[in-house]
Amino acid sequence: MEKKEGHLSYRRTPIEKESPEEFGYERIKYNLAESSVPDFVLGNLDLDLTDLALSYTDHLGNPHLRQNIAGEWVNPEHVLITTGAAGALFIIATSLLKSSDHVVILHPNYVANLESPRAIGCQMDYLRLTMEEQFQFDLNKLEQLIQPNTRLISLTYPQNPTGTMITESELSEIISMIESKGIYLLLDETYREMTPEPLPIAGSLSENVISVSSFSKAYGLPGIRLGWLINQNKELMETFLAGKELIFICNSIVDEEIGAYFLARKREFLTGIQKHVNINLEILNNWIESNDYMEWVKPSGGVICFPRIKQDINIDLEKFYKVLKHTYKTFVAPGHWFEVDKRFMRIGYGYPNRQELEGGLQSITKAIQESII
Ligand SMILES: Cc1ncc(COP(=O)(O)O)c(C=O)c1O
Repeated sequence: MEKKEGHLSYRRTPIEKESPEEFGYERIKYNLAESSVPDFVLGNLDLDLTDLALSYTDHLGNPHLRQNIAGEWVNPEHVLITTGAAGALFIIATSLLKSSDHVVILHPNYVANLESPRAIGCQMDYLRLTMEEQFQFDLNKLEQLIQPNTRLISLTYPQNPTGTMITESELSEIISMIESKGIYLLLDETYREMTPEPLPIAGSLSENVISVSSFSKAYGLPGIRLGWLINQNKELMETFLAGKELIFICNSIVDEEIGAYFLARKREFLTGIQKHVNINLEILNNWIESNDYMEWVKPSGGVICFPRIKQDINIDLEKFYKVLKHTYKTFVAPGHWFEVDKRFMRIGYGYPNRQELEGGLQSITKAIQESII
């Protein structure tokens, strides 16, 4: 769609149009397309909301929630609760950017990180991660992409879709660089808690950094549509709050109540979740390592990876995805959802149970075998 000056240009993307929930969960047997852990069931919270008055609520977000998220890292007033991380990404982009601004974005990436600056009409350059380079981050390449009008660098770590990480010293180097140039860094940390040793919350390290995260992925609560952003710059936070108030005033008091109850018992729930994820990663690892058709970079964080059907395999990719979806009722996130070759597919190994994961992986093997030319 052509960009009209002064308008935000919205367009529906394949990852949303073709998503499992739009296709219909009931039509999918093996769902390996989710980038989250299993959906949390409300009854596990023993939460009685009968007496909850359905009022508006604190515009920054429920104070217990913000206190819990802030922890030892920042003050609770540095935390703004949003409608999912997607809401945070939109607020940040529309608060910071105008069409004459330049943005450098890690690619491939989660769609809203790309689409929000695109909707504004920003000038964009991509810091490309490639399998040939093990999807590794390269600070020199990032610096080379910076222009005099670069306003924002947008990164996602643990990375979606590749599941790769940066180190704490790389994060420090990035922050020193953006501070010296007066650029903002958006770090989408949605999968931060799904790593053996999570990085510091980046928003606690510099006023130029905005952290974004979510209840959807590591906790399995996408249905309450809660996320947050963290930043220590008072003026910027006031602008982000103004953006939130303009779009939806405050979050749903019901969602926030559920979120606060979950966070109060988070450790207990996360232990079980992490165990499940580790077992599934082992199953996935064994499948890939014994598979003649696929190659990958083993993920080091999050619950997703981005393997590829080997280049020397002559395959009808359209047929492969058709057979996979319709014959085997198996869903993966194909490369075109991330604007790359369809030989790539994102496999979410945190969401399915063991049988579903094994069934889905076997389906991928069979669908490849049936589509080889
Ligand atoms: C990296 C990343 N950021 C943000 C989001 C948006 O999540 P939500 O709006 O459900 O919090 C996603 C969802 O897939 C994601 O993977």
